[in-house]
Amino acid sequence: MSTSPTTPPAPETGSDDMPNLDFAGTTPYEDYVQADVLTHLQHLRSDDPGEMVFLVTTQVMELWFTVIVHEWETASRALREDRVPVAMAALRRSTHELEALNHSWSPIARLTPAQFNAYRAALGEGSGFQSAMYRRMEFLLGDKSASMLVPHRGAPRVHAELEKALAEPSLYDEVLRLLARRGLPVPQEVIDRDLTQRYEPSQRVEEVWAELYADPDRHRDLVDLGEALTDVAELVWRWRNDHLVATRRAMGAKTGTGGSAGVAWLEKRARKNVFPELWTARSHV
Ligand code: HEM
Repeated sequence: MSTSPTTPPAPETGSDDMPNLDFAGTTPYEDYVQADVLTHLQHLRSDDPGEMVFLVTTQVMELWFTVIVHEWETASRALREDRVPVAMAALRRSTHELEALNHSWSPIARLTPAQFNAYRAALGEGSGFQSAMYRRMEFLLGDKSASMLVPHRGAPRVHAELEKALAEPSLYDEVLRLLARRGLPVPQEVIDRDLTQRYEPSQRVEEVWAELYADPDRHRDLVDLGEALTDVAELVWRWRNDHLVATRRAMGAKTGTGGSAGVAWLEKRARKNVFPELWTARSHV
């Protein structure tokens, strides 16, 4: 019997070496992954063929930021409950995720100014500076700032999430509280600090880390925690530097689409140390 060209072939069911082809509605893969939604979020603004990879790389990085925030929130909660191994597992996952995040610079790391200019105007005033998920990462690292909520006033859900993150202890606050509960002399004013403000380095906290590192067998799990945090700090610093170099290649010293001085502003941001005393304490061990 011949099949008319408009009739789809009957699904090959019953063969045990074939995956299922026949689903009543959308596929179970689609129901879980929402690939149809994800792969139709690329609304290009120029005719330049290079814009697609710029947009998708940015979207991929937003997804990694989301995963990393999830890990650091898991780690913070676990530390609050004195479950150090659970926190360590989340932090270790996050270092692999940060590596994947950093590798995703590759397709756009070497744009020439002419290549970037081909779609730059189409970005208007859009800038990664307005990324709320990146801001949540910075808040979790202790770099709090109420003014960073201002760009998000028009987006209630995002604004509410950021406002909550601003008031909550950062990952580093939870670490220092744990050290205090373990009997280490973390100053009370550090424990009671205003959580909505940027964490400022403390010499006495530096002394606590130096003491821990000098005698690693006394508090093995806390030194391991310090090293896991140092891995995180190093990889965040690498992201900032890779961003800085990609920006310098693509636009030299021009001002940013977000209105900053561009590379000069990013250089200042990249100089900031994440978990500062974990770096400075090393000089005293
Ligand atoms: C080669 C491509 C890129 C260039 C030339 C570039 C340029 C810039 C510039 C000049 C700034 C400073 C703010 C401004 O005035 O706009 C900035 C900030 C930022 N960009 Fe990019 N960017 C690029 C790619 C990306 C990508 C793919 C992401 C991923 C989401 C991203 C995320 C960010 C973030 C989070 C900030 C704020 C950093 C902070 O607050 O310290 N950028 N970018």
